[in-house]
Amino acid sequence: VGGAVAEELLEQGHDVLVLDNLQQGHRAAVPAGAEFVSADICEPGSLEDVLRPHKFDAVMHMAAETVVEFSLTDPWRYFQNNVVGGLNLLEAMRRHQVPKLVFSSSAAVYGEPESTPILEGHPKAPVNAYGESKLMFERILSWYGKAYGLKHISLRYFNAAGASNLLGEYHRPETHLIPNVLRAALNGAAPVPVFGTDYPTKDGTAIRDYVHVVDIAQAHVLALERLDSFTGRAYNLGNGEGYSVLEVIETARHVTTIDIPVRMGARRPGDPAVLVASSSLAKTELGWQPRFPEIGGIVESAWIWTKKHMKGYDS
Ligand code: UFG
Repeated sequence: VGGAVAEELLEQGHDVLVLDNLQQGHRAAVPAGAEFVSADICEPGSLEDVLRPHKFDAVMHMAAETVVEFSLTDPWRYFQNNVVGGLNLLEAMRRHQVPKLVFSSSAAVYGEPESTPILEGHPKAPVNAYGESKLMFERILSWYGKAYGLKHISLRYFNAAGASNLLGEYHRPETHLIPNVLRAALNGAAPVPVFGTDYPTKDGTAIRDYVHVVDIAQAHVLALERLDSFTGRAYNLGNGEGYSVLEVIETARHVTTIDIPVRMGARRPGDPAVLVASSSLAKTELGWQPRFPEIGGIVESAWIWTKKHMKGYDS
């Protein structure tokens, strides 16, 4: 996501510095034209070294631990990186008078939805430490806004997916559905595990709202442009359309023309049954217009990238 946001910012004429510890990020995913600095939000000294010599107008903060399942077995890591690390960043910004922040939040702040599609005002009751850590940081931002005048917007991504021409997703380990399905299509070997077939959904598998990474990037730039008017707001980023795990696999079979093998399995801990966004607020207030709202186009863009990058960013 960071690489795609940097691409979009550069296209709009901004100067961009990318700060990453490369734990999950990839040096090759930093677009040409952006400056890169290796630093870590959990090391305040390294942040100081980046912020002191520069005059930044704003920060886009997307550095985080993100795997829902791991957050259940190692919550410390999630609170350490996503809350303590985030606070280090806010303090460095305060010391160096950086006035604006766009924060990568998540659908995971809602927990099991009481109503669908989810509106931003829906109760927040995270069912995993990942969602809890994102909600805590949103609340911290609101106090920084009140006390220190920080201008901030939180973007609650639903399921980020897809690829731009140059940038696609490649995690170590890979836990996400679409990259796993496409890799199974490429390698032909291990079947894709389907985590849970007894959810209260039409086909028993979990439903998610997939949103293209390029559309997420566009929302960041719009949020930055509208921070003065809409500071303090949180916006859902999704397409308002839910797809079950089996529907995503079927879409991938259609796009790849490969009969991707699957293996039915147990539920994965911490996974809600259904997460589908209402993003009308982002559309009306930010002017967000997703360019790739269809699941077919999202999977197709990821497939084109995956075929060109069989070993991720090393190829
Ligand atoms: N799934 C499988 N098999 C796989 C991988 C995933 O069946 O090999 C299932 C999951 O159990 C889930 C769905 O596919 O039901 C989507 O799983 P992902 O791992 O792709 O994404 P998540 O919904 O778990 O999480 C993603 C982000 C989170 C974010 C969340 C918000 O990784 O950071 O979306 O909706 F919080």
